[in-house]
Amino acid sequence: MDFNQTEDGKTDFGQSGFAKGHPQEELERQYYFIETCRQYVEAERKRLGRPLTAKVVTFGCQMNARDSEKLSGILAAIGYEKADSEEADFVIYNTCTVRENANNKVWGRLGYLNTYKKHHPHMKIALCGCMMQEPEVIAKLKKSYRFVDLVFGTHNIYKFAELLCRSFEEKGMAIDIWEDTDKIVEDLPVERKYPFKSGVNIMFGCNNFCSYCIVPYVRGRERSRKPEDIIKEIKKLASDGVVEVMLLGQNVNSYGKNLENPITFAELLQEVEQIEGIARIRFMTSHPKDLSDDLIAVMAASKKICSHLHLPLQSGSSRILKEMNRRYGKEQYLNLVQKIRTAIPEIALTTDIIVGYPGETEEDFQETLDVVKQVGYDSAFTFLYSKRTGTPAAAKEDQVPEGIAKERFNRLLEEVQRQAAKRANAWTGRVVPVLIEEVNEQDGSLVTGRMENNFTVHLPGGEDMVGKIVDVALKECKGFYFYGEAVST
Ligand code: SAH
Ligand code: SF4
Ligand code: F3S
Repeated sequence: MDFNQTEDGKTDFGQSGFAKGHPQEELERQYYFIETCRQYVEAERKRLGRPLTAKVVTFGCQMNARDSEKLSGILAAIGYEKADSEEADFVIYNTCTVRENANNKVWGRLGYLNTYKKHHPHMKIALCGCMMQEPEVIAKLKKSYRFVDLVFGTHNIYKFAELLCRSFEEKGMAIDIWEDTDKIVEDLPVERKYPFKSGVNIMFGCNNFCSYCIVPYVRGRERSRKPEDIIKEIKKLASDGVVEVMLLGQNVNSYGKNLENPITFAELLQEVEQIEGIARIRFMTSHPKDLSDDLIAVMAASKKICSHLHLPLQSGSSRILKEMNRRYGKEQYLNLVQKIRTAIPEIALTTDIIVGYPGETEEDFQETLDVVKQVGYDSAFTFLYSKRTGTPAAAKEDQVPEGIAKERFNRLLEEVQRQAAKRANAWTGRVVPVLIEEVNEQDGSLVTGRMENNFTVHLPGGEDMVGKIVDVALKECKGFYFYGEAVST
């Protein structure tokens, strides 16, 4: 393991206990630290005469969102109450570094936290997540951000209580970053954001090394959780009232390949389908290169798997796709889409597209536009290429000038929106199941929910409908969302 550092001459808890130990012992060890932290927090509460509050701020993807639920679970077990804002006793930034702007947001907000902390010196600040896996970030923090109390990465978030304990006991910045791990610790506390739906990690890390992407460097090698652990977790969620699960992995289609007893993603889905109480199954992300015929067949036959597939394209140009190390070409992608639509005609397809990859020409860009037109996505996340230090693409000399990339980006967005509006409009007048997620923030007489294809629907209703799946007549399409009315069945 690389830079597992200890500062200010502190004892290095490091991985020593863990490397020798067994995940079960590690679990007990962490519960011990949770209890110790709880005592520190209780003492602080008595001293201040009020409860201590904590705020977790999440940047980035669903993986990070799920990690934040784990952090929140540990915080609750330690005795922190939830704060509404960053004006709290403990602030945790769970960071993302997939694009430069994700990174910049964190630096900006840290400046604000520094000012706040000057007036509230007892406050604690923790940084964790993908950005912390970058050595340059750690160097910058150590040099100019000494007011940060805790720094840890993506591989050791289960050690959160242990590190916090260290920070209660010793002065200075507690840093613990691991380069990679092959261990998965199960059964620590988790606090879910929604009572009725939940993300479920099925695997961690990524082995694909797409040439532009930093994720494999900051999340480490691919590791699948055992199917029995996943099933156990989902059964528990179902018994707690969860009706929708989102199976999470950077490339769910390669799930299970490296397990002692290999199993495919399609087989895992069939097992999840059997779990009573779960009504909807979603997953992300599917890499087109690994999407199997078996998966398509399982989706087509399933009553619970949502009729939605997120299938990142990245570029429509076979030449650029090769440079990106995506291991599929334009024709292959289009054939795959055709195969999926033949088996599941109403499926919603969504995607991710990068504009301005180094060396992208107008012709390459036209290929991307062509795929968007041919596929007709229900929605698409479009990104300006962002240079990530350490990735092969960052070293390329033919970076596309920002002005050209932005102009292409705008043209792409227009086409994506045109296609999405066309797809959405076609649903008007139909009756579809909608999972009601919340009372509408702007108009309390409405509730807001999601269709299987992830479109948002607003309809008259109240709090009692939240978490239920109701049949809704879609009355009016507003481009990306609908107004509807519940129909009694
Ligand atoms: N594992 C997922 C993607 C995770 S990152 C997959 O392969 O689909 C989410 C999205 O961020 C990617 O699909 C890609 O479109 C975008 N992305 C990743 N690196 C990027 C970069 N350097 N610049 C711009 N967008 C990037
Ligand atoms: Fe990044 Fe590619 Fe892995 Fe997705 S599959 S996380 S884009 S390297
Ligand atoms: Fe960002 Fe890390 Fe996710 S870099 S996109 S939070 S895996």
